[in-house]
Amino acid sequence: MDKFIIYKSKLSGEVSIGGSKNAALPIMAATLLTDEACVIDNVPDLRDIRTMVGILEVLGKEISFEKNTLVIKSKKSRKFVAPYRLVKTMRASFCCLGPLLAKQKKAKVALPGGCVIGPRPVDLHIKGLRELGADIYVDKGYCCAQAKSLLAKHIYLGGAFGSSVLATANVLMASVFTKGQTVIEYAACEPEIECLALFLKKMGADITGEGSPLLRIKGVKELSGCNFKIIPDRIEAATFIAAGLATGSKIKITGAEPLHLTSVLEVAKNMGASVMVSRDSDLFIKPKSFIHPVNITTLAYPGFPTDLQAQFMACLCLGKGISLIVEKIYPDRFMHVAELNRMGAGIQRSGPYAVVEGRKKLYGAEIMASDLRASAALVIAGLAAEGKSEVSRVYHIDRGYENIENKLEKLGAKIKRVKQ
Ligand code: UD1
Repeated sequence: MDKFIIYKSKLSGEVSIGGSKNAALPIMAATLLTDEACVIDNVPDLRDIRTMVGILEVLGKEISFEKNTLVIKSKKSRKFVAPYRLVKTMRASFCCLGPLLAKQKKAKVALPGGCVIGPRPVDLHIKGLRELGADIYVDKGYCCAQAKSLLAKHIYLGGAFGSSVLATANVLMASVFTKGQTVIEYAACEPEIECLALFLKKMGADITGEGSPLLRIKGVKELSGCNFKIIPDRIEAATFIAAGLATGSKIKITGAEPLHLTSVLEVAKNMGASVMVSRDSDLFIKPKSFIHPVNITTLAYPGFPTDLQAQFMACLCLGKGISLIVEKIYPDRFMHVAELNRMGAGIQRSGPYAVVEGRKKLYGAEIMASDLRASAALVIAGLAAEGKSEVSRVYHIDRGYENIENKLEKLGAKIKRVKQ
């Protein structure tokens, strides 16, 4: 197991952003809808992507992955079972269910297990697929689905916590061949879903409304292969924004899509940073001498993303005053609070609320990463803290950030990966 050794750092210079993991994963699953070859560019080389490669290979794909380009072809024999040993390491594998069902009329995908960020049900996925006419049941830890033919339907896909990103992906992919028009109401509006819809359209699907809560899908007979480029990773870009804010460093971020970052840039401005977007969409972040406290509520897109709550909390630990963070997507996603407090932060959590009393300084400590985004928050805190920090279990961060320590080092960060 690797760990990071981090010292207080000042950052400067520029960092370039890779392709979006959360856009690439469902798009990779969508290649199950065709027997033709797909070439997908700007795919980040991450553990989660390699896991999805493994799952697709089991399901009958032949894949090469070089220099951030995936070439996905079909083998002669197709399979419809996504095994637990692979699915258990990554919940996003559940989005193979929709395309398998659409293409092969049957699917057996291991049910993802518990998750450190709290309960993550799949009821909306199942409800949506059932409404399309699938017969779905759970057997020995697997979600089994079959349907002679799927039927076009008007489906309301909102749940207790609003829209669901991967349930929208599953139902959207399941409906591409249905006769007639399927409508998904309360669809997720995240750029990653818009990107999936654009990929499906490039394959020949008839979809309108991508990026809005109302998707209309007219069934087509078949889909073909295509070439496609994945959108930039908005969570990676915003993680570097948070790193700049926490360390009081002026940085330039290239290759991001500022239009996907509106809520984040608004928060960064409210924290006192000046934010400039150049004509080439480069982002320039220049923090003030101190961080203004702000209130943040995580919401579905275009609201502030839950995947950035931990990183911005790390910044607010150094704010000049009291900030309130409300976690509306995963009310238990606060594993990083105790670790940040061990570094001298003043955070009190009650249910989905965290009150962050800003401190003048954080202090380096031995801290443990609990999940992907929480690890990024601890790295940010380590860069801003006095002295030395040791972040263990960084395999979490490798799930979602490509070369994070190299990118940070290039910005001048004192960070080193060592074997534990
Ligand atoms: C995706 C992202 C994840 C991000 C999350 C929320 C990927 C691979 N993962 O996860 O990084 O944190 O969106 O932006 O894209 N819910 C239900 N029933 C369901 C499904 C979800 O109640 O069947 C609830 C969840 O518990 C949560 C909310 O809906 O409270 C949103 O979750 P969802 O959008 O489904 O998250 P994922 O798609 O799993």
